[in-house]
Amino acid sequence: MAISDISENALKVLEKRYQGKDEDGNVVESVEQMFRRVSDTIARVDANFDNTADTGKVSDEFFELMTSLRFMPNSPTLMNAGRTLGQLSACFVLPVGDSMEEIFDSVKNAALIHKSGGGTGFSFSRLRQSGASVKSTGGVASGPVSFMKVFNAATEAVKQGGTRRGANMGILRVDHPDILEFIDCKANNSDITNFNISIGITEKFMQAVEEQTDYDLIDPKSGTAVGHLSAVKVFELIVDHAWKNGEPGIIFLDRLNRDNVVPSQGEIESTNPCGEQPLLPYESCNLGSVNLTKMLRRTLTGYEFDFRLLEQTVNEAVHFLDNVIEANNYPLDIIAETTRATRKIGLGVMGWADALLMLEIPYNSEEAIRLADKVMGFINNTGHAASARLAEKRGSFPLFSVSTLREGPAMRNATVTTIAPTGTISMIAGCSSGVEPVFAYAFVRNIMDGTEMVEVNPILMHKLETLGLDKDRALLKRIAREGTIAHIEEIPQEVRDVFVCAHDIRPVDHIRMQAAFQNHTDNAVSKTVNFPKEATRGDVREAYLLAYEEGCKGVTIYRDGSREEQVLNIGEVN
Ligand code: CDP
Repeated sequence: MAISDISENALKVLEKRYQGKDEDGNVVESVEQMFRRVSDTIARVDANFDNTADTGKVSDEFFELMTSLRFMPNSPTLMNAGRTLGQLSACFVLPVGDSMEEIFDSVKNAALIHKSGGGTGFSFSRLRQSGASVKSTGGVASGPVSFMKVFNAATEAVKQGGTRRGANMGILRVDHPDILEFIDCKANNSDITNFNISIGITEKFMQAVEEQTDYDLIDPKSGTAVGHLSAVKVFELIVDHAWKNGEPGIIFLDRLNRDNVVPSQGEIESTNPCGEQPLLPYESCNLGSVNLTKMLRRTLTGYEFDFRLLEQTVNEAVHFLDNVIEANNYPLDIIAETTRATRKIGLGVMGWADALLMLEIPYNSEEAIRLADKVMGFINNTGHAASARLAEKRGSFPLFSVSTLREGPAMRNATVTTIAPTGTISMIAGCSSGVEPVFAYAFVRNIMDGTEMVEVNPILMHKLETLGLDKDRALLKRIAREGTIAHIEEIPQEVRDVFVCAHDIRPVDHIRMQAAFQNHTDNAVSKTVNFPKEATRGDVREAYLLAYEEGCKGVTIYRDGSREEQVLNIGEVN
């Protein structure tokens, strides 16, 4: 079976990080063998439920699903399925209890997860504040931020199975007494570099911001108020830090818990590293994304969504992701138990911006928002129906009868949809990442080990060809330098209106798009709201408030140039 359309860049990524290698680092697996290793391993699970299942046929289906680039599972599945490690999930959340034993257990568990290619999220909110007394030693506690540094150092020391460095999310509730220190803990770009940090915002806090009143700081041990702060001042401080270098982000804790389908199992305190997957302590989740550029069919005048193909793809993807839960080799027994009790999966999308380009719809238009609503609504409904059909054959997730879903049809999976960043799998699929707009139409991409790749957006190239501008080297160089085509007069205005990049799009339009997808997503949406360098703190504040009003579960912002090392740089074509 041929592997269609796979780009040279994709082949480089696959060779470097995914295809099997021998002890000397020689690649011993072809791209085809790699996808076959994954499809065989995941398809074999069918035999656990039906001893007459034709797993060869299912493997062919999964193989075609991936090699047609219609769908890609998260990186750990591609890397580890059918191999000794066998750890297939990208997302984990670990608890951090308020004792030395519990803290260092968590450090150890995180190291095991990182080694296997997963990312970990933690809430540090249960740790007593710095300066609080420690009974056994008569000393004083050093507080959440100092312990985060231990987690950070451990992460630094463990490279993830030689493939990727560990990623962490650190969350602190806004009412923790150490909140001011936490907000400031990444002010220096070289500190705590293996963490993204987010403030866990409560409804109570947002109300206090609105009413411009103080709010209580709560001692995590006793649950009593031990101080208070001006909500507006704290909010402004968060905004100020985010404006300076993009951190901290915010997550709306009460919203995560409103959508916690098994509240009997405890509270959701944290998400995975990139924020798209809220999980219970010790829960993990495997993700996968549909490539929307492959869900279009040609018409006489252009393209349109092929909803039948999308339906087929979602059905196959849900089947695939549910099998991953079975095939997965979990790093700890308790993670295996917790994950199998809810069987969460996170099906999302990638290539959204590219699909809009093909459809000639500007990302920052009402039409794009309406289409997002329709497409993600369709995926969410189809995905839930697929999970319900699996429940009929395989049984519902074990906690279904105590879940908030128990009145509805039985479900195989407590959650079905999540929108991931798709940082690497979108490179493999050769499409724009997640639901992000195109960052720049030509840029230099820094891969983690320092190598650089130059890329020109192929859809723009195609358009330039039809305009007879594709051989204009000076023009291409200018696009690479500027990232945007907004100011290039040789290109007709109606084309410039469609080919907008992240910086041409106002923050409010970024947030509206995030909200449109969030509306139809069980878990959360990974999205960065890009600001131009000259944006003000007021602009950032406005974006945060809008995200709150629009029903987002969190926000991450980034102001251009505010961190020295960016993963994506607008740069020159060589
Ligand atoms: O594209 P890929 O499957 O490699 O991953 P992604 O969609 O960019 O990220 C999904 C999740 O994988 C993140 O939210 C993290 O939980 C995890 N991840 C990680 O642990 N380490 C990384 N270097 C990148 C992602």
